[in-house]
Amino acid sequence: MKIAFVGKGGSGKTTISSLFVRHLAAQGRPVLAVDADINQHLGTALGLEEDEAAALPAMGAHLTLIKDYLRGTNPRIGSAETMIKTTPPGEGSRLIRVDEDNPVYEACARPLDLDGHPARLMVTGPFTEADLGVACYHSKTGAVEMCLNHMADGRDEYAVVDMTAGSDSFASGMFTRFDVTFLVAEPTRKGVAVYRQYREYARDYDIALHVVGNKVEGEDDIAFLREAVGDDLLTVVGRSEWVRGTEKGQRPSFELLEEPVRHALHSLQRTAVAAYGRRNWARYQQQMVHFHLRNAESWANARTGVDLATQIDPGFVLRESSGSRQPA
Ligand SMILES: Nc1ncnc2c1ncn2[C@@H]1O[C@H](COP(=O)(O)OP(=O)(O)O)[C@@H](O)[C@H]1O
Ligand SMILES: [Mg+2]
Repeated sequence: MKIAFVGKGGSGKTTISSLFVRHLAAQGRPVLAVDADINQHLGTALGLEEDEAAALPAMGAHLTLIKDYLRGTNPRIGSAETMIKTTPPGEGSRLIRVDEDNPVYEACARPLDLDGHPARLMVTGPFTEADLGVACYHSKTGAVEMCLNHMADGRDEYAVVDMTAGSDSFASGMFTRFDVTFLVAEPTRKGVAVYRQYREYARDYDIALHVVGNKVEGEDDIAFLREAVGDDLLTVVGRSEWVRGTEKGQRPSFELLEEPVRHALHSLQRTAVAAYGRRNWARYQQQMVHFHLRNAESWANARTGVDLATQIDPGFVLRESSGSRQPA
């Protein structure tokens, strides 16, 4: 399944995503963690030293490799240059699995050891001024979107993306690529303002959106969040001494995580599993096509000099095990 963590900067997206990744890895589940946040901190939250995190290979630096691998022998995609972040897979495209070796992971993923359990981490790479504006073509999160669009993920394997809730993900369609989106919000007006904006976008695309209250200190905080987000409030996490310890450079065993936090993580997992059960692969493909056409018309046809609508393979639907075709 594909899971996003979004929210305001500082709300605890990276912290909660990293705890969720550890929680899954501790169960022996295959996990791919992806850092697509403007502030790239997922690596250190997953226990890397600063210098190790700084040395992580950036997906943004391997765009051509990623495109060439994913387009495979798809005759509708003539070159890496004409493949954009929304180009959907079709016959001949290569699909990736969470739990496999492939050239994309070879180039971009770093293996992690989480209390003796393996996981993989990929990072977009640091964002610059140019990434935050209109640089659609070289969009850093575009590399992540392409991988998600070509990922034939299964029931018991997890791709967890720590990402910025921003216009980039809305314009591209990235926000529709997940079985479930967890919006991390502190009990503050700013925290819930981001929720309201996300809810607006989510409504039109039938996104499963749940709020995870963070740094919640008591009944008042819970009541505030409940008032602002209603039933979208899934669970809350308090201030964690375990997290604060890691901030001080300690490496507490994950088994020592506070029970209420662990309880919240179970709740996230149950919600994700249920959401995956409702996945509609045909609709997933349709949304790719929708956003691809939108991007083609708004900038990419002009940019590439190609009618990118021709990249759409009408008979193709992404499916769990392989890129097999379904009758149109
Ligand atoms: N539940 C928590 N308990 C204690 N500290 C937390 C908690 N959640 C987040 N923090 C701290 O708050 C800061 C911001 O969290 P972070 O996960 O980096 O936010 P974001 O990724 O949303 O910008 C970090 O210093 C983090 O350690
Ligand atoms: Mg962060």
